[in-house]
Amino acid sequence: MRPKVFITREIPENGIKMIKKFYEIEVWKDQKAPPRDVLLEKIRDFDALVTLLTEKVDKELLDSAPNLKIIAQYAVGYDNIDVEEATKRGVYVTNTPGVLTDATADLAFTLLLATARRLIEADQFVRSGEWKKSGVGWHPLMFLGYGLKGKTLGIIGLGRIGQAVAKRAKGFGMKVLYYSRTRKTEAEKEIGADYVDFETLLKKSDFISIHVPLTKKTYHMIGEKELQLMKPNAILVNTARGAIVDTKALVKALKEGWIAGAGLDVFEEEPYYDRELFSLKNVVLAPHIGSATHEAREGMARLVAENLIAFARGEIPPNLINM
Ligand code: DGY
Repeated sequence: MRPKVFITREIPENGIKMIKKFYEIEVWKDQKAPPRDVLLEKIRDFDALVTLLTEKVDKELLDSAPNLKIIAQYAVGYDNIDVEEATKRGVYVTNTPGVLTDATADLAFTLLLATARRLIEADQFVRSGEWKKSGVGWHPLMFLGYGLKGKTLGIIGLGRIGQAVAKRAKGFGMKVLYYSRTRKTEAEKEIGADYVDFETLLKKSDFISIHVPLTKKTYHMIGEKELQLMKPNAILVNTARGAIVDTKALVKALKEGWIAGAGLDVFEEEPYYDRELFSLKNVVLAPHIGSATHEAREGMARLVAENLIAFARGEIPPNLINM
């Protein structure tokens, strides 16, 4: 009998085609995540589960899944999964590293540039007709922002995505500092980035981009104290996980001018709405689209399929993160 896999959302067809050769498939077709009670009920019958970051895989879910042997996460981050509990039960957990690195680094840079050059504010000004109404065609002081050349980018976390962002920064003529739990001497040399302690990074950077996973240690890693250490011209970019930044503290920092702006792709809860934050002109916002390119999402589908197929063949999945 073929193993059964439950896939909690539609994923690109290339992955589905590969998985179908080895598994009986059920795909949750709704745009929204399956309701918790439905997932808890459904999971009883399945050998494999494909999750997104919207599915909380905890003790309760694992207890409801007596046949579950592999969780293939359709993402590189897996803070939604209690890996320790899965490991205790001998359940494999896999993720999709590498294939979304460039897409996410591109978006971090897009947010950085869009915030620095006030692109959304400027777009609104043109689109709303206010520019025409103003009668001011070109003005030396209109929409002044910050340039990148010669500025310092501070990268928090020099993993794959952090390194890809650092390489882009070098292309813009920026100096790169980084802080990371463990020093990455090889990458540091290759990119030409300087390792500094966290406080120095906060104090010296004109731009700060976050590239660490969300863990108990990184939760609210950027709060009031850290924002107060940053330069008044600093721009903070977050494409990692929303809860790494204390949103209340960030709103205060942006309103009171402790920092100049923020580019945010991720939020403490998703979907998110915050009237106060969203009314600020010095923020650029996106709905968690770091990996949203055709190439990255197809790559993620391929890796999910490769992990499931390896498991079905009795092999170790290539992107196993536990055991
Ligand atoms: C991830 O992979 O962790 C992203 O947040 C979604 O692609």
